Amino acid sequence: MSMKLNMVTTLAFILLYVSFVRSQSGGAATPAGAASAGAAPAGATPAGATPAGAAAAGATPAGAAAAGATPGGAIFDVTKYGAKPNADITQALADAWKEACASTSPCKIVIPTGTYKLGTIELKGECKSPIEIQVQGTLQAPPDLTGEDWVHFKYIDYLSVTSGGVFDGQGKQAWESNDCDKNPKCARIPMNLKFSFIKNAIVSDITSKDSKNFHIQVLGCNNLTFQHVNVNAPETSINTDGIHIGRSLGINILNTNIGTGDDCISLGDGSKQVTITNVTCGPGHGISVGSLGRYNLEEPVEGLQVKNCTLTGTTNGLRIKTWPASPAAGVASDMHYEDVVMNNVMNPILIDQEYCPYNQCNKQVPSKVKISKVSFKNIRGTSGNAAAVTLVCSSSNPCDGVELADIDLTYSGSEGPITSRCANVKPTVSGKQNPPACTSPATPKSLSA
Ligand SMILES: *[C@@H]1O[C@H](CO)[C@@H](O)[C@H](O)[C@H]1NC(C)=O
Ligand SMILES: *[C@@H]1O[C@H](CO)[C@@H](O)[C@H](O)[C@H]1NC(C)=O
Ligand SMILES: *[C@@H]1O[C@H](CO)[C@@H](O)[C@H](O)[C@H]1NC(C)=O
Repeated sequence: MSMKLNMVTTLAFILLYVSFVRSQSGGAATPAGAASAGAAPAGATPAGATPAGAAAAGATPAGAAAAGATPGGAIFDVTKYGAKPNADITQALADAWKEACASTSPCKIVIPTGTYKLGTIELKGECKSPIEIQVQGTLQAPPDLTGEDWVHFKYIDYLSVTSGGVFDGQGKQAWESNDCDKNPKCARIPMNLKFSFIKNAIVSDITSKDSKNFHIQVLGCNNLTFQHVNVNAPETSINTDGIHIGRSLGINILNTNIGTGDDCISLGDGSKQVTITNVTCGPGHGISVGSLGRYNLEEPVEGLQVKNCTLTGTTNGLRIKTWPASPAAGVASDMHYEDVVMNNVMNPILIDQEYCPYNQCNKQVPSKVKISKVSFKNIRGTSGNAAAVTLVCSSSNPCDGVELADIDLTYSGSEGPITSRCANVKPTVSGKQNPPACTSPATPKSLSA
């Protein structure tokens, strides 16, 4: 992931948080009254509402907003708001959202099967009731879209996004012109899906394809589950992290397949209680914590469970990375990896506290991020390089409570025998150890980008 991201994320977080607090206290941003504002006559019909729900609702002129007291009562079909296949549906979706968000009973927005064009859209709460968005069709971003966002969900409690649809970022052109590795002032590039300050939400059975930048970003969220999600982009696509999490609590990523050009899943600072189960990753850069320790004001990463995952052909496996010469102390703790299969993965197990791509830091000064309580259990398969296990911790803040149990990795390439190198860490070892734990010296240099 981009090195600038931590800072960008922190700024975005502060800005969003300020506007969140304002909207909470001022009330002006809530859509109160929207339902009674005589919503567009194009309003959805309450198809699917139970008769009891609809009858009792005393429907508004628009018909839909107040209907359906039962979950999934009112349906706001974007085609009723003017959406047509192969045309731009940004306004239709915004109109449907406005009414759905004002609905006083749980409701659904439906984007039927078909291909639609969609510009930048902000789907913003607070909403009056839970909302489900059924995306059955394919949504295409303009290939030349700029800015930070494409589809941005904000400040919503009880949201679900479901139904097999595809968010196609059409990123090819953006990857080709991306010069952010060399140009600090490079143009902003939109992510496919952003979830900011979302609570109690489920995102299931959707695909994020060819995002121009990160596919999915999770910021300031609490209790958000991704299930049966697919993320697809070519291995060569730039900065297309699959799911990036920051400053969030209780994020679950389950039964999900990710193949992309950067980290499959990355956890930035402030990620807490994150569960990753039954995930496949590859191509991509693996499952990463960090990079941490580059900026001030970073929050701890605490509570990561990675279970029953398979990584195939990735450039890293399970990685925790922190910068040397951190401006402030940091914490990464309670991170547990279990039952992970590696298929030809480079650096399957990697703690790198000397992460310093392009030599942009002073490696002589150790990282101030304290890493503790990390376990790797039943990690097996094939390594793509000899350095299968690398634990390089900080000389000023050695890693504590690291455990290696039942590690069974093999390497058959030309680099020589498989190795396990350690610095500033004394792991507890149990069960099978292939390679034998910490038998090679760690070279004090940056390990990988
Ligand atoms: C988390 O969100 C899900 C989905 O909305 C909800 O069913 C569940 O009750 C929430 N959990 C808690 C602890 O609130
Ligand atoms: C993982 O996958 C297995 C097999 O499909 C399933 O039984 C199990 O419930 C899944 N775990 C989670 C947390 O979804
Ligand atoms: C682990 O994941 C695989 C699919 O990747 C699934 O077939 C298997 O049932 C899962 N096992 C458990 C214990 O969840």
